[in-house]
Amino acid sequence: MNILVTGGGGFIGSHLVDLLLLNGHSVRVLDNFSTGSRNNLPSQNERLEILEADIRDPKAVEQSVHEVEAIVHLAAIASVQASVEDPVGTHAVNLVGTVNLLEAARRHGIKRFVFASSAAVYGNAQQLPVTEDTPLAPLTPYAADKLASEYYIDFYRRQHGLQPVVFRFFNIFGPRQDPSSPYSGVISIFMQRAINGQPITVYGDGEQSRDFVFVADLVELLKQASVTTNGSELPMNVGNGQGTDLNQLLKLIGDFSGKELDVEYVARRPGDIKHSQADNCRLRQRMKYESRYPVEVGLQKTYEWYQGQELNSLA
Ligand code: NAD
Ligand code: UD1
Repeated sequence: MNILVTGGGGFIGSHLVDLLLLNGHSVRVLDNFSTGSRNNLPSQNERLEILEADIRDPKAVEQSVHEVEAIVHLAAIASVQASVEDPVGTHAVNLVGTVNLLEAARRHGIKRFVFASSAAVYGNAQQLPVTEDTPLAPLTPYAADKLASEYYIDFYRRQHGLQPVVFRFFNIFGPRQDPSSPYSGVISIFMQRAINGQPITVYGDGEQSRDFVFVADLVELLKQASVTTNGSELPMNVGNGQGTDLNQLLKLIGDFSGKELDVEYVARRPGDIKHSQADNCRLRQRMKYESRYPVEVGLQKTYEWYQGQELNSLA
């Protein structure tokens, strides 16, 4: 199949591109490489086409869907905190970019559309784990844009016959997650800082917890969804149902490193969610999902990868 992966140069996207290529598909990547990188992608593969362009640009988006059979839409500014500080800028990418893509898909008759929504749409849920029927309570512009994207996708489903698969990802981690900004995913930052012997900042008391999913588990699902014709109006949680708090995470990373970590606790971030944990019954029923990577195993693999990166940069 010909599959478009927006944000294919990013952390999750590049793992998906690898898997799709491995399975014999042809892949086009649309990415402006703002947080992603060409280095995440294979340099030579005749089934891979890279379009360096912006999802905010309707003409470029139109070009990117040409002769495509399925779209996996991952391009976004993935940081919740970035959206708190720049609601207008992140909105243009996270919502208007999605609508640009939906319009292009409609004009070209593309039905299969896989979307990366987020657990952030639930806000601070009253009850854990959260099912997909938990009341929606987006607390940040990022969450509001993900939820609005879901509503637009549902409009295109009802009105134009789109066959969408909407996943609400919980916290994804693994190799290639870029730790270089304070807005990056917490595991990437903690691991890189632990390896470099740098101080680690915890926003809040460290008791906030997340349902961490190893990226290899997620991209199997994305691959399955991109080749399916069974679109649905029902979103699916992608989590493992296990909460890990930041203090537990620091303990594990400390054990991997064999060193005492230098940890400073500061004020919690505005809009930050306290606990997040998925009920994944719907996912397991509909996608035959079984995690192959318990969080400790994924963390060990990820730590080894960051260690390897450091050794390479010293060589
Ligand atoms: P990432 O930052 O590594 O990937 C995002 C990609 O989108 C990058 O390659 C970036 O260059 C690209 N991009 C950003 N703005 C763009 C624009 N204007 N035009 C074209 N490309 C643009 O982040 P990720 O963690 O791989 O996230 C992928 C998707 O999954 C995002 O939609 C994110 O919101 C969603 N998501 C991620 C997580 C997580 O825990 N990582 C959880 C829930 C949802
Ligand atoms: C993450 C994703 C977001 C996704 C959501 C789904 C990233 C950057 N964010 O947001 O795209 O939609 O999961 O649940 O991938 N923290 C520290 N110190 C640090 C960095 C972070 O204490 O140096 C804390 C944060 O304040 C937060 C927790 O760690 O309490 C997790 O932060 P982060 O990794 O940014 O994830 P989410 O905000 O959950």
